Amino acid sequence: MLHDIDSILITEEEIKDICDRLASKIDEDYTDTDKKLILVCILKGSLMFCAELMKRIKRPLEVEFMKVSSYGSRTDSSGVINIHLDIKRDDFEDLDFLIIEDIVDSGRTLSHLVKYLKERGANSVRTCALLDKPERRAVDYKADYVGTVIPDKFVVGFGLDYSEKYRNLPFVGVLKPSVWGGE
Ligand code: IMP
Ligand code: MG
Repeated sequence: MLHDIDSILITEEEIKDICDRLASKIDEDYTDTDKKLILVCILKGSLMFCAELMKRIKRPLEVEFMKVSSYGSRTDSSGVINIHLDIKRDDFEDLDFLIIEDIVDSGRTLSHLVKYLKERGANSVRTCALLDKPERRAVDYKADYVGTVIPDKFVVGFGLDYSEKYRNLPFVGVLKPSVWGGE
């Protein structure tokens, strides 16, 4: 796998520092609510980030999972968001949702999910993304919590994949364009 990586963009150590910072900000921001905090882990890419983040959050929380897709196996978004796994509960008005996402790229996934959970009656919906690629934005969307901004490169590792591969790398690295057929 390492042969396919051009460079390491974010080291394991840097990811931990990012999670420390985001978790204390989240603890700070959710002190005044009597609702339940629900982390929504977006499968599969946010698996590692959600785990690393949630163990640092000190206030009580619950976890739910959603599986969505906007990508085929190539590196470009299709523009259509499909929900493959949804949250099955009926107490949305008592819930503050925090959607945990690996990366904001076109912005379509998060803007769609925020709208969707609000429409189902959530008390509040915020978003937290490990990575943000603002240059790629197709819809106007800004996450409430962002780990770090990265340039317009296709990255893998720490949950992020290319054709389901590389998710188990412990760091975030830039994939060699030759692997996905780019220049
Ligand atoms: P958006 O809806 O275009 O913002 O897409 C977000 C989703 O696209 C993320 O959850 C990822 O699954 C995928 N994605 C976007 N950029 C990358 C990347 O550089 N590497 C791996 N997956 C990516
Ligand atoms: Mg994803």
